[in-house]
Amino acid sequence: MLKGFRPASDNVAAYEICTMKFLVSPCSGIQGRIKVAGDKSISHRAVIFGAIANGVTRVSGILEGDDVLATIQAFRAMGINITRASNQPDDNNYEIQGNGLHGLSQPASSLDLGNSGTALRLLTGLLCAQPWPTTLMGDDSLNQRPMGRIIDPLMRMGAHIESADGKPPLNITAVEPRTNPLRGIEYATPMASAQVKSAILLAGLYAKGRTSVIETATTRDHTERMLEGFGYSVLKIGQKTSRKIGQKIEHVVTIQSGGELFAREIEVPADLSSAAFFILAALITPKSKLVLQRVGVNPSRAGVLDVLQRMGGQIELQNQSDVGGEPVADIVVRSSKLQGCDVRGNDIALAIDEIPVIAVAAACAVGVTRISDAAELRVKESDRIHCLVTGLKALGINAKENSDGMVIEGGKLTGGQVQSCGDHRIAMAFSIAGAAALDQVEVLDCNNVATSFPNFYPLANQAGVNIVAH
Ligand code: S3P
Repeated sequence: MLKGFRPASDNVAAYEICTMKFLVSPCSGIQGRIKVAGDKSISHRAVIFGAIANGVTRVSGILEGDDVLATIQAFRAMGINITRASNQPDDNNYEIQGNGLHGLSQPASSLDLGNSGTALRLLTGLLCAQPWPTTLMGDDSLNQRPMGRIIDPLMRMGAHIESADGKPPLNITAVEPRTNPLRGIEYATPMASAQVKSAILLAGLYAKGRTSVIETATTRDHTERMLEGFGYSVLKIGQKTSRKIGQKIEHVVTIQSGGELFAREIEVPADLSSAAFFILAALITPKSKLVLQRVGVNPSRAGVLDVLQRMGGQIELQNQSDVGGEPVADIVVRSSKLQGCDVRGNDIALAIDEIPVIAVAAACAVGVTRISDAAELRVKESDRIHCLVTGLKALGINAKENSDGMVIEGGKLTGGQVQSCGDHRIAMAFSIAGAAALDQVEVLDCNNVATSFPNFYPLANQAGVNIVAH
């Protein structure tokens, strides 16, 4: 797969040089039963915890997107044997030969995590506790993203991490585990971020004493669930008001160092963030009925379902079950008349990756949708507030950018050309917008779709969305 062009600047006009484009034609409805690719967050964590567990962890349904492949490559470079069980393209089962908490070895060169913020932030937490130095870097987009949010708490734990302006590359200094180990801390995260929480907990596995992360908004809890699945005990306290930080606490997660992780079998559910594009497609095209099979519906992640249902979306969960500590369900979606609504507060952390989907739903709804408290969107794979508003306007929708969100007036999507800004989720959201538009929509710079959803385009065609890649 060709690599996309990712300019260092955030200027949308700078994205003129681009590679793969999607040309989407209006569609008259989508039907069928499909299974989208494996969950990205869970796949990263399966590799990370499998590598530091004792014994062989077998993972089925891992996401073979560029982001997770970068994590796999990084652990191979640190001496972990990770094998794909067969050569069949759809049989993405992996075996990870864990070497235990102290079994990683120093990589021969810096680790390149590509486009993946999750990989870079979680690995910084893990590697700042190792007795050898490492350098972590990414592509042009990742090298522009803020890392101060992890560097600050990890340095308070005694880690040494150097960077220019708090951005990658990050140079991590070796720790002397016997004479000067990391120290456990109690840390209240200043922003809702599962990546920050997870980086601190990973460092906490090696830190002297207890490490607690205090969150004032719920963020995805895959790390806590997976630690428990690997036999590591995690203390979780929910919802109380703290005099110390003067705010309502949503969660406190605490771990104590000195334990061990034990290999297990993991089935990775289908990724709700990927399923969300197909949920959107079925909602906004006429005469649609789609079933998305075995999708992860972890409540710390499922805000998009709640918001779309509030907008009038006909979405039902069937066959709910628990797969290795993660809830999964089949999601049944039908064409719906959507109404604008307010999306703010807790909605944002619970649907942080699905705001592009919600924005396109808002463009197809009757009335106004106001998205606020979402300034974090400015530091995702692109400035998503700016890219979404610019793209919606290019498709004939009245939309306005605010510092922490946007206001979208529902209308009729015209055809047109939109920039994905090199951002996988913006590319997929506007591709689905094309299915409900009056005329063809061309989405530029779609290479990065492969970071999270490598078979998006063939699967979309299978479901009835007409996309040509060129
Ligand atoms: C992720 C956490 C979220 C999310 C990202 C995946 C994770 O990032 O946007 O796609 O797997 O922990 P933040 O922690 O920056 O909110």
